[in-house]
Amino acid sequence: MDMPQEVRLVEVGPRDGLQNESAAVSVATRIELIERLAAAGLPAVEAGAFVSPKWVPQMAASAAVYAGLTRRRGTAYPALVPNLKGLEAALAAKVTEIAVFVSASERFSQKNIACSRAESITRLSPVAEKARAHGLKLRGYVSCIAGCPYEGDVAPAEAAAMARELIGLGAYEISLGDTIGVGTPRQIRTVIETVAADIPREQIAMHFHDTYGQGVANVFASLQSGIAVFDSSVAGLGGCPYAPGASGNVATEDVVYLLHGLGIRTGVDLDAVTETGGWISAALGRANASRAGRALLAKKSSEAVP
Ligand code: HMG
Ligand code: MG
Repeated sequence: MDMPQEVRLVEVGPRDGLQNESAAVSVATRIELIERLAAAGLPAVEAGAFVSPKWVPQMAASAAVYAGLTRRRGTAYPALVPNLKGLEAALAAKVTEIAVFVSASERFSQKNIACSRAESITRLSPVAEKARAHGLKLRGYVSCIAGCPYEGDVAPAEAAAMARELIGLGAYEISLGDTIGVGTPRQIRTVIETVAADIPREQIAMHFHDTYGQGVANVFASLQSGIAVFDSSVAGLGGCPYAPGASGNVATEDVVYLLHGLGIRTGVDLDAVTETGGWISAALGRANASRAGRALLAKKSSEAVP
């Protein structure tokens, strides 16, 4: 299968990344991060989550983040929404795209959103209906497509079944999440082929965490399977509070470096996103988890020495 000539990147650092930070991150820093990423050319920046603050305190001030954000024309700023209460908050914050999330594994569903997979679809049905009535775009996530922290192996058919449910709710795109980053390229391709038996590839995005260092390899394998949308996180920020041991998403800098090296267009300014990765890592007092980001920053600082 031909690889795509153009890829759309969905930056998830301000949500998937920051939701897992132990230190509180100020609203001002969250806003600056989102604005810098949008200015770097990322076409979509997931900016917050309207989930229960008891479950994910890091996302508590998402309304203030949306209120303070200067939105660029043409950039999407989706927000995670788990239920009708979250949708109400998202509507009040003038969000125009929401992302709903379900799990391919039963136990992760219970741990992450306190209900079964079947109940999650029932819960999301009125959310999708109301979102549509308000003209919001709806994106869907399926988690644990390559393994579950509580159940171990997850059959590709389980991911496909949940993806079909989300399409049934009206999602324009399904992001298949390797939540704990255990998948390897052949396995990922099997998942894609299984899901693509029912859903056009143009409606499938991939969302890799880099726990086992397979993120970039899995992006490459997905490109070979005709996938042209990827979620990634600047500086490899992130994890999931309900997925013990999961590390951050595949780093945006690493993915952009790969894609541009392959001659695939992204519209993203690698220098600008690399600077942003260095800045947010320093602001959070954490190591920059992007290999390309670290290398580019080191190169730049060595060139700056007179
Ligand atoms: P629950 O405890 O069953 O909910 O949690 P509840 O309806 O019984 O409400 C409990 C309390 O939360 C109540 O407050 C509600 O008002 C409040 P109290 O009366 O006790 O004071 N509440 C809310 N507050 C604000 N916003 C809301 C909201 N809903 C209820 N929307 C619930 C169920 C779904 C709410 C909870 O489990 C939850 O918020 N879960 C979210 C967990 C989460 O955000 N996980 C990380 C995102 S998923 C992920 O990272 C994976 C992904 O990246 C893809 C991948 O990698 O695979 C997307
Ligand atoms: Mg994730």
